[in-house]
Amino acid sequence: MKNVVLINASPKISGPSLSNYLVTLLANQFDLASICLSVINIRQSITKRLTLDDFTKLKEADAVVIVFPLYFYCTPGILMRFLEDYQRFIMEQGSLSNQTKVYTIINCGFPEPERNREAVRVIASFCKHVKAHFRFGVLIGGGGMLLETKNAGFMKKTIQALHNSFLTIANDIQNNEFETIENIDISVKFPKILFRFIGGLNWISLARKNGLKKKDLYRQPYR
Ligand SMILES: Cc1cc2nc3c(=O)[nH]c(=O)nc-3n(C[C@H](O)[C@H](O)[C@H](O)COP(=O)(O)O)c2cc1C
Repeated sequence: MKNVVLINASPKISGPSLSNYLVTLLANQFDLASICLSVINIRQSITKRLTLDDFTKLKEADAVVIVFPLYFYCTPGILMRFLEDYQRFIMEQGSLSNQTKVYTIINCGFPEPERNREAVRVIASFCKHVKAHFRFGVLIGGGGMLLETKNAGFMKKTIQALHNSFLTIANDIQNNEFETIENIDISVKFPKILFRFIGGLNWISLARKNGLKKKDLYRQPYR
């Protein structure tokens, strides 16, 4: 029976999170008769002081899937810290067998999935340091919109593409092969011009909620 660990690394404290939704969707792809599945929520791991237990789970995993939102074109700070601490733990304990397969699922707010590429490279580099085997990433654009409209008719193709990519992960975990699989890009089928227009309105509404005016959004904190 394979040990699979899913990591949810969204830093959100409350409110809906796409990473949360993606972890649930992915968990449903596994046949629990043949997989032993555990989920690590990094925020909870840190605040409830569970990191040592979680590091042990990771060390014993046959496959790990790291799910996170793009923050400033890279990994959120809490994920970076968790991975660095894990690397230190591994160096003290002896390294992972390089048969451990690692995948990542990254979502970003902008519509272009390729914005997540640098963050994929960060995860691949982490894998080299802990001697794990990076397999491939699922790169998702338009994350916020996907979460809000996932049940709408125009989202059907995107949701289907998500299911297919998760099935590719689940099948790859089950077999013992290491054939190359390219990163999978998934985008929301929605006109970019409308996407940016609605995004702009959201920023203005958020500014008002915080007691600011539209022109305040153009202020330059540093010159
Ligand atoms: C602090 C912060 C930084 C972000 N940086 C980026 C970014 O560089 N590029 C991008 O496309 N989206 C960025 N986003 C948007 C998130 O990636 C997006 O909202 C994502 O869907 C949130 O996922 P979650 O619900 O799983 O937390 C950022 C969001 C926050 C809060």
